[in-house]
Amino acid sequence: MTLPAAVRVVEVGPRDGLQNEAASVSVDDKVAFAQALLDAGLRVMEPGAFVSPKWVPQMAGSDEVLRRLRRPADARLPVLVPNRKGWERASAAGAREIAIFTAASETFSRKNINASIDESFARFREFVPDALKGGLWVRGYVSTCFGCPYEGAVDPARVVDVARRLVELGCQELSIGDTIGVAVPTQVMDVMGRLQAALPPAALAVHFHDTRGTALANVLAALQLGIAVVDSSAGGLGGCPYAPGASGNLATEDLLYMLHGMGIATGVDIDKVAAASRALAPRLGHRLPSRYLQACAPAPVAG
Ligand code: HMG
Ligand code: MG
Repeated sequence: MTLPAAVRVVEVGPRDGLQNEAASVSVDDKVAFAQALLDAGLRVMEPGAFVSPKWVPQMAGSDEVLRRLRRPADARLPVLVPNRKGWERASAAGAREIAIFTAASETFSRKNINASIDESFARFREFVPDALKGGLWVRGYVSTCFGCPYEGAVDPARVVDVARRLVELGCQELSIGDTIGVAVPTQVMDVMGRLQAALPPAALAVHFHDTRGTALANVLAALQLGIAVVDSSAGGLGGCPYAPGASGNLATEDLLYMLHGMGIATGVDIDKVAAASRALAPRLGHRLPSRYLQACAPAPVAG
């Protein structure tokens, strides 16, 4: 089995994680959480989203979070941007990296961004060329690549088609999303294999939600294909507000535990990530789903 020697972990907890929390987390707490993750060695992290605060109130204040973070020189902090208005806000907040997002299924696209897939590209054309001209790094997400909460099965040819359009638009990296956590490893081999055949392989990342417990197995399948960029969320926070049933992302701690145990380097300190998750948990009012966190919970205080 040939596996990558190193993996770049893309931390999405402060965005994909917090966007789905019922509790409202203050900007101070968001900054503390995100800063602790950067201090743990994560070098690509999404600090927030410039989407409509009426649609996703949890992402209000992303401009302040981005401005207040101490950014290591080699870090990338992509923020989600759906349209020209989001781009103007992201630009004003000093974003140097952005992530655009669309889907492989029409119904999910409409529910998530109130636009068809074609309309999402029309919106992207209104700002992505400016972002690229300005030297920004642009990541593209394709959601529902392995199944849609509204339409069920998704044709892999649709995934390839949408991914190709994002590359043609200028995206430097594509994150292939299992939005509702339905994928299994053989399907990952199939869909990712088709994408590798059609696109520059260096551009591919995987983004698994762990709804049905298959995320780590899916990562292993992707690693076996040589894919070396994996999204995850500290503590296993996460979900998409417009994907019923979507639970947390694969937990960063669980991913790091597996990668490090297999001798794959990440440059990230697992204990510092776990400490960041533990510090945030009381603000959320529920236990975090990461298995590593549960297995390595600090011993209860006697008495
Ligand atoms: P819309 O309502 O169709 O847009 O929303 P609109 O252009 O008609 O604007 C309506 C109002 O929103 C106006 O305000 C606009 O100014 C305002 P009003 O006149 O009513 O006061 N507005 C904005 N305000 C702030 N920032 C903006 C913005 N745009 C419009 N950027 C829109 C369209 C896309 C904005 C909306 O549908 C939206 O924000 N959706 C949120 C989608 C979202 O954040 N989903 C979760 C992230 S995606 C995800 O989690 C999946 C992923 O993790 C991968 C995976 O797991 O598969 C990435
Ligand atoms: Mg997601």
